[in-house]
Amino acid sequence: MTLNERIEKALADYLPGKDCLEKRLIDSMEYSLLAGGKRIRPLLVLEFCQLCGGSIEDAVPFACAVEMIHTYSLIHDDLPCMDNDDFRRGKPSNHKVYGEDTALLAGDALQALAFKTATSNITQENAYNTARAVNNLAEYCGANGMVGGQIIDLENEGKSSGIDILKKMDKKKTAAIIKSACEMGCIVAGAGDEDIKRARVFGESIGIAFQIQDDILDVTADQSKLGKPVGSDKENEKSTYVSLLGLEECKSLVESLTAKAIDSLSGFKGDSSALKELALSLSNREY
Ligand code: IPE
Ligand code: IPE
Ligand code: MG
Ligand code: MG
Ligand code: MG
Repeated sequence: MTLNERIEKALADYLPGKDCLEKRLIDSMEYSLLAGGKRIRPLLVLEFCQLCGGSIEDAVPFACAVEMIHTYSLIHDDLPCMDNDDFRRGKPSNHKVYGEDTALLAGDALQALAFKTATSNITQENAYNTARAVNNLAEYCGANGMVGGQIIDLENEGKSSGIDILKKMDKKKTAAIIKSACEMGCIVAGAGDEDIKRARVFGESIGIAFQIQDDILDVTADQSKLGKPVGSDKENEKSTYVSLLGLEECKSLVESLTAKAIDSLSGFKGDSSALKELALSLSNREY
């Protein structure tokens, strides 16, 4: 099985059974979780764990946990009270199929399932690293991370915010969870502080580059390839790097951030070529 196949299978296995009164909620969770995103964040967990000498087996629960958090963030991000987008991952958004009430609850339940999943293989031996990884994920997905970034995003609608605010916003709403994926992979493998620090630099750099590329694609992409609406940022009067700096400058920023990320890999003792390839492919992605 490839790493991606392992992720897909594990995500399906961690969903609760449906023979219960809550079937509609679980259908809605499954609808978005198994809708075939790129699975970048879980892949980062597995690759960093491998790079630091850990086993894929041990990293899978954390890989699935970060994808559950990411999926919940997308369900909520698409709601009418947020970005009001009707397509996601090539299908109608969760709330278009299940309604806003169920979509809200599916996001909530995916968040809780993430923390249950991350701790699902806990033993006496791995308890310390498991707790550190969960603490890392909680920090980066909450008020100091993704959710914090989302409110900065909302508060800047209709304003032409400066680059300093946009940088803080992207660091939180997008780079934080990507950074957590990288760091958790190292933590689960029992890596030392220096390697965790290197993973943090890598995650933050590709994370900011990832959001800038997302903003570029919101202008330049094909909706059928992207799987979600184009032009959403303009419609919502979002402040983005693209609205502030223009496409050309954004493209060179993505390149320099990617180079910085790749540079941070040189300190690792193991083979980091897969992560280098991943960073490069993300900087050229078209969806
Ligand atoms: C989209 O993330 C939201 C952002 C943080 C920019 P992805 O582009 O990773 O979405 P999926 O998981 O592939 O659908
Ligand atoms: C997403 O930013 C950040 C999240 C935390 C979900 P966007 O609002 O730009 O993501 P897309 O373009 O809808 O995927
Ligand atoms: Mg948004
Ligand atoms: Mg959005
Ligand atoms: Mg976007």
